[in-house]
Amino acid sequence: MEQIEKKNIKELYTAEVIAARIRELGAQIYQDYGDRELVLVGVLKGSFLFIADLARAIPSTEVRIEFLGLASYGDETKSSGVVQITADLTKPVEGKHVLVVEDIVDTGLTMDYLMDNLRTRHPASVKLCALLHKPSRQKKHVPIDYLGFTIPDLFVVGYGLDFAQRYRNLPFIGVLE
Ligand code: PRP
Repeated sequence: MEQIEKKNIKELYTAEVIAARIRELGAQIYQDYGDRELVLVGVLKGSFLFIADLARAIPSTEVRIEFLGLASYGDETKSSGVVQITADLTKPVEGKHVLVVEDIVDTGLTMDYLMDNLRTRHPASVKLCALLHKPSRQKKHVPIDYLGFTIPDLFVVGYGLDFAQRYRNLPFIGVLE
């Protein structure tokens, strides 16, 4: 059963390709922020692997880690734009440089909500780092300051991304066929 299901996932980005891109993103982020305090905000659950690897690719002593849980009302595959914060930051971000770390920007509705929400907390700056962007389904334009890969309109799983809560633990990003 498991074997058959694994065969239906076609590798899109290998673990090595992902790691190499994240090293580049980390270097770029370090170039921009240097050793200024930077709060990485991982959006659960999808970003748990990405933030773990990205944080290690930023050679700064001033990185802080926070997580934020979001639930979007809608079915499993469609985001409705109505977003609820299910777990909030543990500390205020007023006056801080914040970098949101997200696995995928699809319609853009989730990040449109979150970036606006974070701005109301008066951070010194708030930017977005997304591993994947699927522009074909965009409903809201959300500027992505650091982007891993632009992907076509495919259902991707792995490296944090799920289908019905499964496949998040795959070390690569694949297409569910
Ligand atoms: C996914 C992903 C983004 C959002 C993107 O989260 O992690 O947060 O959907 O979609 P959008 O651009 O169309 O709004 P999901 O709701 O699947 O939760 P998860 O992170 O727990 O998998």
